[in-house]
Amino acid sequence: MDLGLSGKTALVTGASSGIGAATAQLLAEEGTNVIVSYHSNEAGAARTADAIRDLEREAWLCQMDMTQDKEVEKAIAALPDDARPLDVLVLCAGEATSMPFGELTPAEWKRIVDVNLNGTFNVLHTARHLLSDNAAVVIVASVAAHTGVPHHAHYAAAKAGLVNLTKSAARALAPKVRVNCVAPGMTLTEMGQQTAASLPPDYAEKKLLVGRFAEPREIAQSIVFLASDASQFVTGATLDINGGRDLR
Ligand SMILES: NC(=O)c1ccc[n+]([C@@H]2O[C@H](COP(=O)([O-])OP(=O)(O)OC[C@H]3O[C@@H](n4cnc5c(N)ncnc54)[C@H](OP(=O)(O)O)[C@@H]3O)[C@@H](O)[C@H]2O)c1
Repeated sequence: MDLGLSGKTALVTGASSGIGAATAQLLAEEGTNVIVSYHSNEAGAARTADAIRDLEREAWLCQMDMTQDKEVEKAIAALPDDARPLDVLVLCAGEATSMPFGELTPAEWKRIVDVNLNGTFNVLHTARHLLSDNAAVVIVASVAAHTGVPHHAHYAAAKAGLVNLTKSAARALAPKVRVNCVAPGMTLTEMGQQTAASLPPDYAEKKLLVGRFAEPREIAQSIVFLASDASQFVTGATLDINGGRDLR
């Protein structure tokens, strides 16, 4: 199956590590040139860019704190001409913190909603002018968006907002642009490993039909599918990638 990604250009937020880095790598393997967007992990972003260049694809770095709308505007405006238009926009950056509901302060609620929901909106809203005809946007939410999580109430609420933002943006940007979402379950990135360490050792075996947590590349594969021509008839959808979590 030809994914139709060769020679295209993608911007991937959160590409300095984890799922975003795996997605940038996989897009490059499919022949896509990639803008590697990151916040503070410059070394991680450089590693991702090097891996893309090793595949003889173009890579550009794009640093921004996506919670700062003016900073996002500046970073997007500074993208070089040969990195435009954007055929693919993957909004993967996010942050989770864990704390009992009773200890969740309004400041921490706001901070996490800012990163995951408002930050994603800032990038999507700013970059929409750069999207090509037939572009695809993929937003990364979480299984928490559907289930709610007592220790991640702020994060879960923000991710639920992204599922809904996907639908609004799909309506607003159709038919030129498709907008879809993925809702991954626990994935063994640094962020995921921290959460996994706080769970009972047999959690995956008992809770997931597949009996294990995901590898970042397994999530990236679904993201790349939604970014590709192979999903031309899919828009406004959220794809659950959770190893059958909801079925146990
Ligand atoms: N891992 C899981 O189990 C899991 C499960 C479901 C959903 N997810 C979601 O998947 C996405 C990727 O997670 P991951 O596990 O790969 O995490 P990760 O390795 O910690 O990556 C998070 C990325 O987000 C970027 N980021 C954080 N705050 C930012 C900000 N203010 N502005 C711009 N970029 C910012 C980070 O940039 P710097 O490091 O450069 O600062 C980093 O590249 C997140 O949206 C997460 O919520 C993860």
